Amino acid sequence: MSGFDTRWLDLREVADHAARDRGLRQRVTDHVMAVGEDATVVDLGAGTGSTLRALLPEAQHWRWKLVDNDANLLAEAGSRHGLSGRVECVEAHLDDISVDTFDGSRLVTASALFDLVSEDFLAGLVAQLVQADVSLYAALNYDGICHWDDPHPMDEEVVAAFNTHQQSDKGFGPALGPAATPSLRKLLEGQSFHVAMAPSPWRLDPSHAELQRQFVSGMATAAAETGLVSKMDVNDWQSARLERAENSSCFVGHWDLFAFR
Ligand SMILES: C[S@@+](CC[C@H](N)C(=O)[O-])C[C@H]1O[C@@H](n2cnc3c(N)ncnc32)[C@H](O)[C@@H]1O
Repeated sequence: MSGFDTRWLDLREVADHAARDRGLRQRVTDHVMAVGEDATVVDLGAGTGSTLRALLPEAQHWRWKLVDNDANLLAEAGSRHGLSGRVECVEAHLDDISVDTFDGSRLVTASALFDLVSEDFLAGLVAQLVQADVSLYAALNYDGICHWDDPHPMDEEVVAAFNTHQQSDKGFGPALGPAATPSLRKLLEGQSFHVAMAPSPWRLDPSHAELQRQFVSGMATAAAETGLVSKMDVNDWQSARLERAENSSCFVGHWDLFAFR
């Protein structure tokens, strides 16, 4: 178990797919298709396979290696893709993967992953990408910006506390949180990659009420854990936000990034 359950990943997948930057996605699929239909793509922190689904229909022609340390999520990914013989599920901790994982692949992908990792992890990964001569598509990393159309007096404080929590250890050392994509860009450019970035925010409306509720509850728990806001203030904020979820709209900023040499 990684702490990411299928229900949460399913809930966010709709918003994630709508949020991905279309132009960048097209550049990524063109880049993979340029080497023919049997290109290999490695998806890190694959979960239930959301990235593969986001890159359909083109992705059905590629060979996929889905890497995750959560056996349950990988089993779910394996049962969902319907691409017989083209998908290998690899159960591994990302700290333990070697450059061989990327051997012969055209692209490495990761979505909603790099805001969980440390700068050291990214530096190691970029070194492996250079060694394997492979490109990178990193989608949907949180950028620290979150606001609602119907402001609440505690929004700013809660979001600031949440952003601090985003930098705590998520299994890879101190996490980059909102700094992930700018840091990744710097590391990649330092190794002569061409890097393109585009915003990919969630724009949640009342049709995403359940996602809004789960997101608000997760944010409240994380914010309270920092001790930067009082438990009582966070509880009041959470109750108000949960009540409004059917009527409010919420913006959650992310970055997509594509890097190639
Ligand atoms: C936020 S989820 C994103 C899942 C998927 N990429 C998506 O967009 O739906 C993060 C994923 O990273 C995986 N993960 C977290 N830490 C990991 C680690 N140390 N090694 C391998 N996978 C890890 C989790 O199991 C989870 O599937």
